[in-house]
Amino acid sequence: MSDRLICICNGVTEKELQTAILKKGATTMDDLKSLTYVSTGCGRCSSRAMEVLDRELRNKEVDPQQKLGF
Ligand code: FES
Repeated sequence: MSDRLICICNGVTEKELQTAILKKGATTMDDLKSLTYVSTGCGRCSSRAMEVLDRELRNKEVDPQQKLGF
């Protein structure tokens, strides 16, 4: 997990978004906003936050055995 800063306004890192998605069940931007306050200021970070959300949800849905072709 990365400590890359995603939201400057609220000091939200990529790692915090990943934790919200993987451990707290966030599946939408509204979930991420409620849990981390990402994108609740100027909104300029919304596309970066969406990228993290899409990537983490895609990775989460893939069963590791499917990934290996079993
Ligand atoms: S950078 Fe995230 S709300 Fe401004």
